[in-house]
Amino acid sequence: MEPRKDLLDIASLSLEEIEFVLKTAGPFKELFTKSIKKVPPLRGKTVLTLFYEPSTRTRSSFEIAAKRVSADVTNFTVGSSSVVKGESVLDTIDTLQAMKCDYVVVRHAAAGVPNMISKHTKASVVNAGDGFHAHPTQALLDAFTLRETFGDLAGKKILIVGDILHSRVARSVGQICEKLGMEIGVLGPGSLIPQARPKFMRKFYTYDEALGWKPDAIYLLRVQLERQNDQFFPSLNEYHKIYGLTEERFRQVEGEGTWVLHPGPVNRGVELGDDVMTYERTLINQQVENGIAVRMAVLYWLQPETN
Ligand code: CP
Repeated sequence: MEPRKDLLDIASLSLEEIEFVLKTAGPFKELFTKSIKKVPPLRGKTVLTLFYEPSTRTRSSFEIAAKRVSADVTNFTVGSSSVVKGESVLDTIDTLQAMKCDYVVVRHAAAGVPNMISKHTKASVVNAGDGFHAHPTQALLDAFTLRETFGDLAGKKILIVGDILHSRVARSVGQICEKLGMEIGVLGPGSLIPQARPKFMRKFYTYDEALGWKPDAIYLLRVQLERQNDQFFPSLNEYHKIYGLTEERFRQVEGEGTWVLHPGPVNRGVELGDDVMTYERTLINQQVENGIAVRMAVLYWLQPETN
């Protein structure tokens, strides 16, 4: 397999590369049961997290992952940096380049910023979410979680529910599930389902119709109010009634033994009700745990040009 410097999206990954990351993450996860959870492959390397948007799990997950492969970690906090004095992304990167970081993990509200940064640094760049574009490590950790649950994913059905239009998670998760042979259905308000969606995404118009398709897993997307300039549905209450995993729908899902995923952060009472959080087939906590193992595998895999 060709060495790769950056991880910017799922679309450009080969099946072999995806399989490599998923396979490598397995032994890293086994470490989590040991008293010493650290291994040495990135000893002497520096990982910089550069988040221009808020994050709870991705940022802390990368920090823990980097430390578990023995890298040193610096968290660049945009709010207390010279960015607030008007420093551009590229000037920030030049400054950080001078500090000889080996890996830069970046999240930005604008699609394409991680790509642009990758062309200006010898460090490996990992996209931790850029605008509506991509969130590749989220998709890799979801694929790892689905593999752990189902084994071979070929022919398994996943229903992605919610704001497909504004969701980098939906795009990346859809792409990885398709590459791994899954069937993909989408359900959400008409205004939030892109007309130009990939052919492999089958559109459903109602929850009843989608559940009648008998999905093996339901992937609930967060309603991203911060990304909507226009109002795409009447109210959060309406959204919950029509597209939320309500108590009534949850009973049906529970009866079928369908697995439930959500990338977080969860909006309780919008995408799902409280019952879903305690359902034994809800994979949300496994997704978070697996995120660390998968990100360890990603950092282990990428080859910066700083050597
Ligand atoms: N899933 C996800 O990206 O969560 P954060 O926004 O908390 O990082």
